[in-house]
Amino acid sequence: MGAPIEFEIRRRTLVASSAAVAIGAATGRRSAAQSRAALTPSGAENSTITLTVNGVEQELTVDNRTTLLDLLRENLKLTGTKKGCDHGQCGACTCTVNGQRVNSCLSLAVMHDGDEVQTIEGVGTPDDLDPMQAAFVANDGFQCGYCTPGQIMSARSVLNEIRAGIPSHVTDDLTARIKMTDDEIRERMSGNICRCGAYSNILAAITKVAEEQA
Ligand code: FES
Ligand code: FES
Repeated sequence: MGAPIEFEIRRRTLVASSAAVAIGAATGRRSAAQSRAALTPSGAENSTITLTVNGVEQELTVDNRTTLLDLLRENLKLTGTKKGCDHGQCGACTCTVNGQRVNSCLSLAVMHDGDEVQTIEGVGTPDDLDPMQAAFVANDGFQCGYCTPGQIMSARSVLNEIRAGIPSHVTDDLTARIKMTDDEIRERMSGNICRCGAYSNILAAITKVAEEQA
């Protein structure tokens, strides 16, 4: 006879929990709407921002909803930065902002007023490749090439991050963190997906540059 009571308690707990989740979700929606209203002045759809992109300062008027990725590709025609998933899952859109790599599809352009952005177009030229670009070529670090700009922007940042001792999730051991092991590089590059599966060659390219610059 104990089982039905236990079931009833569980059922009530479940109903109460579901109600709490529903109320929380509704509250969250209101908060998000209020936040949007606060961010977007009444009647304003565009904002004027100043950005330095690949060393060139630019004043731009953009729709407040424009992502940094779309600003680069559509407004500035810097199409080297690729749109893969548009959801922060593939890394094709990686560029750097103030020296740190970001997924530009996840960031609104208006959040970057005054920032310095670097894209693949600002990293070397066909006649004077950046060492990481040269290493990707020398090690066949690509097949179709779609992910490659993001891979290279990430790879350059990874070496800077390791040298700066910025932690990753590979280990809690500080000594191991700053050592450029293959696992360390793989972990730090894990946000950059390559559908062609050129991972071993990408790793070889990054290792080559790491050794050259050691
Ligand atoms: S396009 Fe930005 S992470 Fe995929
Ligand atoms: S080289 Fe084709 S997706 Fe990476």
